Amino acid sequence: MTASPPPAGSPPARPGRDRLADVHIPFIYAALAFGVLGGFSLAVSLSVEALLRGISVSWATHAQLHGHLQVLGFAGLFVLGVGAKLAPRFGNGRPLNSTMVEGAFWCLVAGLLARAIGQPIAAYGPLGGQAMVLGALLEAIGALLFAGALWAVLGGAIRGGAPHAVQIGAGALWLLAQAVLGVAWLAGLAGEGGTILRGDRDGLLLAMQLYGFVLCVFTGVGLRSFPTLFGMPAPSRALGLAGSGLVQAGLLVWVGASLLDGTRVATLGQATVGAGVLTLVSSFGFWKRETRFAAASQPLSWALRGALMSLALTGVLLLTTGLGVFVFDRAVPPREVDATRHVFALGVVTLGIVGMAQLILPEFASERLVRTPSRRRGPVFAAALLVAMLLRGVVPMTAVPDSVRFASMSLGGTIAWIAVGAFAVLFIRARLAHLEYLRRMATWRASQALPVIDQPE
Ligand code: HEM
Repeated sequence: MTASPPPAGSPPARPGRDRLADVHIPFIYAALAFGVLGGFSLAVSLSVEALLRGISVSWATHAQLHGHLQVLGFAGLFVLGVGAKLAPRFGNGRPLNSTMVEGAFWCLVAGLLARAIGQPIAAYGPLGGQAMVLGALLEAIGALLFAGALWAVLGGAIRGGAPHAVQIGAGALWLLAQAVLGVAWLAGLAGEGGTILRGDRDGLLLAMQLYGFVLCVFTGVGLRSFPTLFGMPAPSRALGLAGSGLVQAGLLVWVGASLLDGTRVATLGQATVGAGVLTLVSSFGFWKRETRFAAASQPLSWALRGALMSLALTGVLLLTTGLGVFVFDRAVPPREVDATRHVFALGVVTLGIVGMAQLILPEFASERLVRTPSRRRGPVFAAALLVAMLLRGVVPMTAVPDSVRFASMSLGGTIAWIAVGAFAVLFIRARLAHLEYLRRMATWRASQALPVIDQPE
């Protein structure tokens, strides 16, 4: 934020001049576009197609595309955008390098688009495969730029052993690691003219993306904010580092053993990640009745409570399905892997995005100054996305016939698509209210000849 007295009669400051104050905006618009137009639309069409016509090679290709667009397009871009906004507060107070962050944004968006176009047509000629590999390369460059900018800001806190910074910094490392592996494996796939990445490789990339990158950044941010919001004492360094250490050690074992073909050891890693998640969740206090949310934000606490409850469920599922391998002497069944992913993706990530964004983004804060949002907003989003999570994640895990499984997914997908679409509309409306608020403030300040503040945080 910069302040300077305006010369008499100068025009009001134009909002949006400060690149860093608006650093999150392109990420959020792109994330919502990838989610609503790409990932969630594919989710509904895949479930309906499986219900009506069954599964084919192109279905499986599109399922991988849905996963990639959701995890890195929708969730990933959103998490990076909000991360860029919050990072200075979580690190040394210095802002992120805006050139690196903007470079990362364009590389990631171009990479995701190239992958989305290339993968489905890779079987018809070399062009599709080349686009797919170019997409993976651009994503890796974007991940490197973003991680570099983030580490520069968090470095001191990481070296000082602050658990939240360690967890967020490690999340950026997993983002980069999966992107590098992705380049190598997609190049191999393109060389064979294939469109479906081998199941074990695909599963490992997803574990690194979902639990390495998204989960670590989410819980890192959470370590600093959730206990305070729910009136808990800040978690001790020992507890924070124990939770973070278990998650990181588990991920290393999971990834390392999978690369070396050690399935049983890998599931031990998965169970350790689950134990780490439960350790971290134990400090968040989301079960407490009293909260420290501002009165206008109280109803949104339900969205956050729902997301943290789902995080606890994710921890339980990772732990029990991982340990089940030793009790029942079998690999983790694909249905359980898929269900755990969707409990996390819908219950934690999607609900967390919708709830946290409304709590912390300046756009929604400005909107609250202009009009009071409905008190039903938080509970309705929480109910819709938790029902979608049950229908997509929990019902399909049970021993129901395929017709019920895919019907349940179709209904869950439709509910989630509507909820995220509604959130996109609310965000655009809040952004317009925010810009209008800043314009009025600037005009008022100019008329009072008060110092001009380019854009408040
Ligand atoms: C209710 C909404 C959703 C529905 C109906 C849905 C549906 C599906 C379907 C049908 C599959 C294919 C499963 C299979 O191969 O057997 C799938 C896979 C997947 N989905 Fe979703 N999904 C939804 C939301 C999400 C969200 C929000 C995310 C992430 C943020 C996500 C991430 C994934 C991933 C990572 C895969 C695995 C893709 C792969 O095998 O490479 N999904 N989903």
